Amino acid sequence: MAFHYIPLTVIALCAALYFYFTRTFNYWKKRNVPGPEPTAFFGNFKESALRRKNVGVVVQELYNSFPNEKVIGIYRMTTPSLLIRDLDVIKHIMIKDFELFADRGLEFSKKGLGQNLFHADGDTWRGLRNRFTPIFTSGKLKRMYYLMHDRAEKFIAFLQREAEKSPEFEVHSLVQKFTVSTITACAFGLDINTLEEKFEALELIDKMVLEANFSLELDMMYPGILKKLGISIFPGKVLSFFKVLVNNVINMRNGKPTDRNDFMDLMLGLREMGTVTSNKLGSADTSVDITDDVVAAQAFVFYVGGYETSATTVSYLLYQLALNQDIQDKLVKEIDEELKQSNGEVTYDCLMNMKYLNKVFDETLRMYSIVEPLQRKATVDYKIPGTDLTVEKGTMMIISPRGIHYDEKYYPKPEVFDPSRFDAEVAGARHPCAYLPFGLGQRNCIGMRFGRLQSILCVVKILSKFRIEPSKNTKRDLPVKPSKALIGPDGGILVNIVPRRDIKT
Ligand code: HEM
Repeated sequence: MAFHYIPLTVIALCAALYFYFTRTFNYWKKRNVPGPEPTAFFGNFKESALRRKNVGVVVQELYNSFPNEKVIGIYRMTTPSLLIRDLDVIKHIMIKDFELFADRGLEFSKKGLGQNLFHADGDTWRGLRNRFTPIFTSGKLKRMYYLMHDRAEKFIAFLQREAEKSPEFEVHSLVQKFTVSTITACAFGLDINTLEEKFEALELIDKMVLEANFSLELDMMYPGILKKLGISIFPGKVLSFFKVLVNNVINMRNGKPTDRNDFMDLMLGLREMGTVTSNKLGSADTSVDITDDVVAAQAFVFYVGGYETSATTVSYLLYQLALNQDIQDKLVKEIDEELKQSNGEVTYDCLMNMKYLNKVFDETLRMYSIVEPLQRKATVDYKIPGTDLTVEKGTMMIISPRGIHYDEKYYPKPEVFDPSRFDAEVAGARHPCAYLPFGLGQRNCIGMRFGRLQSILCVVKILSKFRIEPSKNTKRDLPVKPSKALIGPDGGILVNIVPRRDIKT
């Protein structure tokens, strides 16, 4: 007899689940905010949650779906969030009213590696950012440049050997070898041979940290749950790896800065100062204890934030040079002329002088911004300027650099790779928030100078010896890898790297 009730129970259960996983979906309608229809459970993030599309591409599509709106009401799983399209509103959130949006709102246990600059919030972030900003000045980078340059020389020697075997390279994994070696040298002071040897620990970290992780969808659904339960998004193995690594380096240096001038020296300098109080960024005093764990967490974020972003940028840049030989000719001409002035030495100053190279770099990040989407959490109820809408405290503000960078309004023919978009007069005429591969405002990328420097150094070293050409396997269309936390090419990028015929090598 009881079996008769099974279908009814199943139907009631399904109805209850459906109701539960759609219960918030009137939120934006009630506030008259336009937005796409959400799907039960997934909201507007079904394609990324199922790993069919990269989350950055999903948000770009949401951006494109309401071309005339300033803001769009979306659901990150079941949580209402606001996608900001209007550049003036973005300017308010990221710059003018920054103090109300200082948190990125990535909520999970802030112990161990969670104390890193990218994921820290509130006063902890303020204290850390105050302490670590001076590490990234151009003066400090200039002193660290010799480490990068040395790795670049070794990388080119390696490339010359490899190019004799076959001209075709998968450039993403190739350039990763260079950026991992510079970042491990600059962040940990380690001289490891990433060119010839495989480092399983680093490969494992790459997999565990850079592959999209379902804990993020859980946090979208139940904001703050990971923090409440004390769960970290980084596996314990990654924490132990960085703790051991950093402790070894600290012990090797007797806990004191040496004369290497790398990040570890600079962090050990800060550590000697102990707890430091500062009120530079916020109105309230902020203090952070620079313990060994805090040092390990920053070394971790400099490593993860530093190598993959630059490797991906350089590989997309080389790809565009393969497809646009005229742009490559112009760039090689600039490089040759500049190197002639410096007797063939690739110095820090000559890299900074290469104007066209820097425009090529900027245009690459316009087409392929790597960290997507950007986000900020409202820490108070906030009236969105130029609208009648007031968002509630805790609402997540989402920004799509890809959406903006491919918007015809700001970049005509956005599919065309055109470095002249960054000519001073053209760039100067654009809205200051129309270009945001490094984010914006006080919470922008702290490592952007470092990222630019190691990327353009790598490009100059390669182009001073080699030419980039399409191979028979070079794709005309590069899909974005769906399962990655960052933007990156699915299946890599294949091009030919051939010795230049116009010079002696
Ligand atoms: C081409 C290279 C790079 C790109 C495209 C890039 C992009 C970004 C973006 C978009 C953000 C978020 C900004 C925002 O929310 O407004 C960010 C934050 C950050 N990046 Fe980078 N990045 C690059 C290189 C680096 C390097 C080399 C390092 C370290 C050595 C680094 C460390 C960080 C850190 C620590 C943050 C968090 C800053 C904070 O919250 O205060 N990045 N990056």
